[in-house]
Amino acid sequence: MNFIKRLRVARMIPAILLLPLLAGCTEMGPGTTFDVRSNIAREQLSLFMLTFWLGLAVLVVVCGIFLFVIFKFRVQDDHDKSDIPEQTHGHTALEIAWTIAPVILVIILAVPTIRLTMLQESETARTADNDIVVNVTGYQWWWKFEYPELGITTANELHIPEGRRATFNLESADVLHSFWVPQMGGKKDLIPGQDNFLWFIPDEGSAQEEPYYAQCAELCLGAHAYMRFKVKVDTAEDFDAWVAGLQGASLQKVSADPLVQQGKQAYIQKGCAGCHTIEGQAVGNERYPNLTNYGQRSIVAGLEPNTPENLATWIRDPQIFKPGNYMPTLFSGAEGEEEQIEAIVAYLHSLGVDDLSQASAER
Ligand code: CUA
Repeated sequence: MNFIKRLRVARMIPAILLLPLLAGCTEMGPGTTFDVRSNIAREQLSLFMLTFWLGLAVLVVVCGIFLFVIFKFRVQDDHDKSDIPEQTHGHTALEIAWTIAPVILVIILAVPTIRLTMLQESETARTADNDIVVNVTGYQWWWKFEYPELGITTANELHIPEGRRATFNLESADVLHSFWVPQMGGKKDLIPGQDNFLWFIPDEGSAQEEPYYAQCAELCLGAHAYMRFKVKVDTAEDFDAWVAGLQGASLQKVSADPLVQQGKQAYIQKGCAGCHTIEGQAVGNERYPNLTNYGQRSIVAGLEPNTPENLATWIRDPQIFKPGNYMPTLFSGAEGEEEQIEAIVAYLHSLGVDDLSQASAER
């Protein structure tokens, strides 16, 4: 192979190496914005599709004319190179046409854009009857969800009922974050001191076992990429049951199971209770995730399945799942610590789980 040929082959290598990136182009990944489940997401998708097809039409027309011209007017073999083509200066009809055409395109895009913006952003859009209001606070690197009208607070896992409007008041406790539930529409920044909001109505029938994926979409340093959360869309009955469970949490009893009791002691002794509130059990700090009814959560740290193994891994070394986060490492690998971790896991997983919480009168 001569040098030129080798060079040509070598030029293909970066292109081949980039091919796996196409795997990111699936429509149905967890962060898809194509499989929409709310009114706002559907409006946004239709605006995107309109923009896409118009853009594609412009591309086809412009490239078509370009290709037509370079083939039609290419230099012929018998062309006299000294022959200079006829020189023209402007073409009024053409100039008017290519000024008006983009204006028409902009108008076609502007009308639905303004309509959607008014639907989403107007102050009259801010409140509605019968909506679920959630005050969302972004922290480095987790989410607090407070339901002021229901008097409950949760972390990293949001519950909303299907078919009913949900309004989110967005506030940040530190730096910029961004609230984004891809299948429900979005996204909107959380800015310290600024009163932002976002709303949508999850479709009737969008309630499902599997929670919807959601993610902080604004670079907020450290563990930004791990600042995920889950949105559980419930049927009306499931939502009411979830709310009643949290509202009744301060009255709950802790299981008399010895491991759970030992875990409760360890939770206090290791200082967990100084940060993490558990209704009726521990008054922590607003700055850290509320763990009330933690046994009902589906995730650890906002991103891993809430299995005993994952929760133990998180407690043992919080830097493994979410590098850079502010939870201290309380365990050094000393003897007896694994039993303590196991007990804390049993305690946390017993919270809000009916058969355990009603099993005993002991607090
Ligand atoms: Cu919060 Cu990125």
